[in-house]
Amino acid sequence: MKIKPPIFVTRRLPDPAMAILAEHCTVSWWDQVEMPIPRDELLRGVAAAEGLLCLITDRIDAEVIAAAPRLCAVSIMAVGYDNIDRAALAARGITLTNTPDVLTETTADLAWALLLAAARRVVEGHKLIERGEWGPWHPLQMVGQDIYGRVLGVVGAGRIGQAVLRRGRGFGMRLIYHNRRPNPILAAELGAEYRPLNDLLAESDAVVVTAPLTDETRGMFGSAQFALMKPASIFVNVARGPLVREDELVAALRAGRPWAAGLDVFDREPIGPDHPLLALPNVVLTPHIGSASVATRVRMATLAAENLVAVLSGRATPHIVK
Ligand code: DGY
Repeated sequence: MKIKPPIFVTRRLPDPAMAILAEHCTVSWWDQVEMPIPRDELLRGVAAAEGLLCLITDRIDAEVIAAAPRLCAVSIMAVGYDNIDRAALAARGITLTNTPDVLTETTADLAWALLLAAARRVVEGHKLIERGEWGPWHPLQMVGQDIYGRVLGVVGAGRIGQAVLRRGRGFGMRLIYHNRRPNPILAAELGAEYRPLNDLLAESDAVVVTAPLTDETRGMFGSAQFALMKPASIFVNVARGPLVREDELVAALRAGRPWAAGLDVFDREPIGPDHPLLALPNVVLTPHIGSASVATRVRMATLAAENLVAVLSGRATPHIVK
């Protein structure tokens, strides 16, 4: 009988994913759905593991790698992997996989939900009704900003960014994007034009951030960038919080430029009810739920399981992080 490789999973995943893992591996897991694994449990958990399936809430650094002498594969149930020390993995020849593609459309939907909600003051309106403050209709009551027919600027036009741009076509928008370098396919397929970052910020009515967090992109949005944006513009971030200098965003929103923001990600998550962003009327906040539809989260979990099984059995998977 074939010996099943021991693996450790840092959270109880949806049943279909656990079933795939159990069929091919000897599985140990942190038996919680909501709470991240404590550090000492993680270090203990990986001690005998050849494979590790982790989430964005787990810091996988040199200490974890050192605690896992047999580890040869790490699979993250996410597209982003900035919580993983890739140099420490590479030094040991450990393969990393992620779960792109399956969450693209779901995350693009949330970017649009935030964009429209921020532009049209959806949450502010809801709260006003809740407080019993809805007075008689008047011409300038709760007026917001139009999105249809305006300019959409996407920063980081990878898979999710392109899906955001594609939706912009249905809204009759002119599309521009910023990447490290221009991508001719985006002009051909979406009619989206490349812009240097500062030009994109100055030209866009809606700026949507979908760039990965790297040493290069950390803190790329601060006072200087917000000052370039149009007074009526909307800023949306569904990527990673540390791309934005959050205190400078709060100051910029207080001063009214950008006009409003929709944010799914924050510098330190989770944020509490005393966070300064919550004191502002012109923000819509969600708790890092870009990929959180039932179907997508199950697909992400099963893909993460399939990736880990593939690497441990020496089979190819297209989701190896280069
Ligand atoms: C990701 O996949 O990187 C998201 O942030 C979590 O779904």
